[in-house]
Amino acid sequence: MGWNSWNTFGSEVDEIVVRETAAAMMDTGLLDAGYRFVNIDDFWQAEARKDGRLIWDSEKFLSGIPRLAADLHGMGFSFGLYSCAGTHTCGGRPGSYGHEAEDAKAFAEWGVDFLKYDNCYLPPGLDGRLLFRRMGMSLLGCGRPILFSACEWGRSEPWLWAASVGASMWRISGDIDDRWDSIVENGFRLLADLAPYAGPGRWNDPDMLVVGMHGVGNDEVVDGTGCTDAEYRSQFALWCLASSPLFIGADIRNLDKKSLDLLSNTGAIAINQDVLGIPGRRIGIHEHGGENAEVWSRPLADGSIAVGLFNMGNQAGRRVSVAWESLGLDVGTSLRVRDVLDDIDLGLHHHEFTGFVDGHDVMLLQLRHEKNMN
Ligand code: GAL
Repeated sequence: MGWNSWNTFGSEVDEIVVRETAAAMMDTGLLDAGYRFVNIDDFWQAEARKDGRLIWDSEKFLSGIPRLAADLHGMGFSFGLYSCAGTHTCGGRPGSYGHEAEDAKAFAEWGVDFLKYDNCYLPPGLDGRLLFRRMGMSLLGCGRPILFSACEWGRSEPWLWAASVGASMWRISGDIDDRWDSIVENGFRLLADLAPYAGPGRWNDPDMLVVGMHGVGNDEVVDGTGCTDAEYRSQFALWCLASSPLFIGADIRNLDKKSLDLLSNTGAIAINQDVLGIPGRRIGIHEHGGENAEVWSRPLADGSIAVGLFNMGNQAGRRVSVAWESLGLDVGTSLRVRDVLDDIDLGLHHHEFTGFVDGHDVMLLQLRHEKNMN
């Protein structure tokens, strides 16, 4: 959980933005809610290596990366950087190809805790998996624990091999946009098939949260007016159900109240962070009048079950049901139902629960056996 600079700032990221964002994460309570990583994406590097060494852009990062990392650590954050498996990053800055071990050592010396590793400008004929392995092994040997985040956009099925080269998470898709279609493609479509490959220490990454962007940000991510609040709720609920990394991409300094409340929702975060780490599965698609509703669920460590009732269409107040039988439970079971996002007890239910869900919205539920209630 954390923040990444790309969605909003793209190539404009600098030290001031990073420091102001970290301060805002403290002030808003997002750090306390669990958003621990402050990650700088592409464009922190100088335009060229110096004497073979990767260096930061000293005009944008006046106090230098090690000082910035130390200050963030002092505030209670972990610190992330970005590099690339090819000769250049996707933004054309120097990549780590051929310098993997020395770059990993430099990251360790600078106090880096997280590395996002991208997939542009690979030398022709080389298997990208080998290059990810090289960096994964270099990080293991660099003398500091650095979380390895593989970003090869799902091209060569990283869910099959990225964990074996040391990655704790891997992108399953191309870049997300602040658009409903993009949430559907990166999230609902891909996660439905890929849930079985994730688990503790190995997570499917459908890219950053667009929650709260409202169409403001990096041109490559923003396309129009942005999503509705309902669509943001759906993205957040799905990423939580899927156990996917929660990286905020919005400008935290200017986050609207609804988005801040959503991102801080303790019940949803507890589902995302549940220690069993069993990613949610899609257990039903209901079609009505040409529009779908989807039901997702995941078991939680305390014996309760998280369920998402998603209205994928536009119809307001559509009925979406989850039957106990589809959850593998006896039809006669009595379950207490809680609306997690709105924090409301919806009472005791038998056989099934039916919610009324607006277009592109979600009802995120937690179902408990009565005996688990205190
Ligand atoms: C893309 C990557 C984005 C962002 C960008 C930076 O390849 O998918 O998330 O990191 O490069 O140039």
